[in-house]
Amino acid sequence: MDLFDRIRNNPGPLGQWSEIAEGYWIFPKLKGELANRMEFNGKEVICWSVNNYLGLGNHPAIRKADTEAAERWGLAYPMGSRMMSGNTEMHEELERKLAAFVSKDASYLLNFGYQGFMSVIDAILSPRGRDVIVYDAESHACLVDGVRMYPGKRFAFKHNDIASLEKHLESASKIVEKTKGGILVISEGVFGMRGDQGKLREIVALKEKYNFRLLVDDAHGFGVLGETGAGAGEEQGVQDEIDIYIATFAKSMASIGAFVAGDKDIINFLKYNMRSQIYAKSLPMPFVQSALVRFEMLKDQSHKNKLWENVNALQNGLKEKGFDIGNTNSCVTPVYMHGSVEEAMRMVHDLRENHRLFCSIVVYPVIPKGMIILRLIPTASHTLQDIDETLVAFEAISSKLKGGEYKKEVAWEELYQK
Ligand SMILES: Cc1ncc(COP(=O)(O)O)c(C=O)c1O
Repeated sequence: MDLFDRIRNNPGPLGQWSEIAEGYWIFPKLKGELANRMEFNGKEVICWSVNNYLGLGNHPAIRKADTEAAERWGLAYPMGSRMMSGNTEMHEELERKLAAFVSKDASYLLNFGYQGFMSVIDAILSPRGRDVIVYDAESHACLVDGVRMYPGKRFAFKHNDIASLEKHLESASKIVEKTKGGILVISEGVFGMRGDQGKLREIVALKEKYNFRLLVDDAHGFGVLGETGAGAGEEQGVQDEIDIYIATFAKSMASIGAFVAGDKDIINFLKYNMRSQIYAKSLPMPFVQSALVRFEMLKDQSHKNKLWENVNALQNGLKEKGFDIGNTNSCVTPVYMHGSVEEAMRMVHDLRENHRLFCSIVVYPVIPKGMIILRLIPTASHTLQDIDETLVAFEAISSKLKGGEYKKEVAWEELYQK
């Protein structure tokens, strides 16, 4: 069969819906300035679907810094990879500051979290497959892809289930005794879908019994959790026990780029062995300079405090009204409901068109049949008015869902309106 014929015959689980759903359900276009309220489908909506946690994305000081950085450097400099010709004093300054902030010896910049994190996993493990990976089954796709590149043994432990982790650590320990390899445990600071923090304290406690190194992806914790904002490790009092700490600039920093932090010799090893950075152009200067500005604002507690005021108001409001928000102990706010995929779509259509509220929706096959998750991401730029309106809207749609109103047939074209 011709390769392209196969692709055309099977566009994939989401791709099959592209013709009718693209623009509204998939690849929606949120227009206007990045803010608590944006424009969708010709209407103003309260936007609950971007990880602009600290509200820095469109902060006047940030916009000014971004403009000045682009004006000063252009988008090209430096050219080449860090190793060849793309290194600068400013890249290293940012690395020193990030490392100190997350209480590690050293850090190294990554152009993107996704590729960078895969590459970190790839670089630290034995190319001969002597090591064993034990990773949380609900790890982010980039961690799973990093695991998939590894030729050796790997075990997935049940999400945040310490008994399951321990069972796999026992098996892994037996294997590495023979192979003379090591064990890498992978978890996240915050799991982005459900908002529950990785049980880092419990995982770290297992170091007393098993010999392993711990890698934590703190994409959703960096800048928003912990007393200073240093993330989930700081929040749980175990930052020192995280051996490899990785975080992205794509969320609280509202930019692009990422970093890995740890012991000096390990970061030095990564610098010389991480393929995603050795064989790719260095992070352009405007991103580095504006990351330094963002970083100073991130350390200023006022944005984090405002964020948490909003998180608490939203989450307490939802709980008071009887909504199930699961085990979240972060800003990520999932609202669990029950209904079919069709009901979920009609409900979200109602939410967007009539209540002017835009949030992410998760349904089967990502989660079990009959379950619906509406996922809200509060930010520092939301207002209490946004939260009040959202609580009213959620009460309205939930009572319609329970009353079976979304079971009523609606022409699909109506729901798929673009
Ligand atoms: C947990 C987690 N890890 C990694 C990434 C990838 O980071 P980036 O967007 O910088 O590629 C994301 C999403 O942005 C994420 O949510």
